[in-house]
Amino acid sequence: MNITVFLGAPGSGKGTQAKRLAESKKFIHLSTGDRLREAMQKGDDLGKRAKIFVDRGELVPDSIMIDLIDDCLTKFPLQARVLLDGFPRTLAQAKALDNNPATRVERAINFVVPEEALVARLTGRRICEKCGEPFHVEFVPPRKDNVCDKCGGKLYQRADDKREVVTKRLEVYRNLTEPLLSYYQSGNKLAELNGNKPAEVIQQDLTRLLNGKY
Ligand code: AP5
Ligand code: MG
Repeated sequence: MNITVFLGAPGSGKGTQAKRLAESKKFIHLSTGDRLREAMQKGDDLGKRAKIFVDRGELVPDSIMIDLIDDCLTKFPLQARVLLDGFPRTLAQAKALDNNPATRVERAINFVVPEEALVARLTGRRICEKCGEPFHVEFVPPRKDNVCDKCGGKLYQRADDKREVVTKRLEVYRNLTEPLLSYYQSGNKLAELNGNKPAEVIQQDLTRLLNGKY
C-alpha cells in the first residue's frame, strides 16, 4: 500500500487539502482526528478513552493510535494509495508504520504555515457535523451562515479549537511531532509545501508535487 503522509502543525490545512484530493478518487483519505471524533460522537470505548486526551489538546497514547491505524489500513485494498492525515504524530508511530509489511511510505509532505496564521485558522474554523467539511468564518466562509455548502449540514466549532487548547496543541506539536521532519528527511522522503497561500493555489502546488513534476 502506497502511503503519502501529511505532516504539519494543527491548522496547517492538511484536512482541507486531503479532502479535496480524495474527491479525485485516486486517493483514500484517512484522518485519525476524524476517526477519533466519530468515535467520540458515538461514545464507544475508543471515543471515551480518546476524549480525555483530545479535549486537553494532548496526544492519544501511541498504543491506541497504532492499533486504530492498523485496523483501518487492513480494510483497504493492497494497491490503494492512501493519504494519511494526522498520523504518524510521534516517532513511535512513524516506526510502527515503517514496520508494517503491507505499507510503504512514499513521501511525507510538510505543510509550512507561520504560527500566527495557525491560531487564526483554528480559532475561526467551523466543521460540518454531517460530512466533516472544514470552513473558516473569515478565510473559507460558507455561502450561507453556519450551513455546509456541500451537504446542507449544520456547522459547529470543535471543542479543541478554543484558544487555550489550541496553545496546548501547538506546544505538543513542537515537542512530539516536529521531530518527524528530520526522521523523514533522513529517509529522503520529506517535501516542504508552503501552506500559507490561498487553499486553491496550494491544491495546485500539491497536485504538481504528487505528480512528481516539482
Ligand atoms: P486532528 O483532527 O488531526 O487535528 P490537528 O492535527 O490538530 O489538525 P487540524 O485538523 O486541527 O488541522 P488541519 O491541518 O487538518 O487544518 P484544516 O484543513 O482543518 O487531531 C485532533 C486530536 O486528535 C489531536 O489533538 C489528538 O488529541 C488526537 N489525535 C489525532 N491523531 C493522533 C495521533 N496520530 N496520535 C495521537 N493523537 C492523535 O484547516 C484549518 C482551518 O484553516 C479551517 O478553518 C480551514 O477552513 C482553514 N484553512 C485551510 N486552508 C487554508 C488556507 N490555505 N488559507 C486560509 N485558511 C485555510
Ligand atoms: Mg484536520
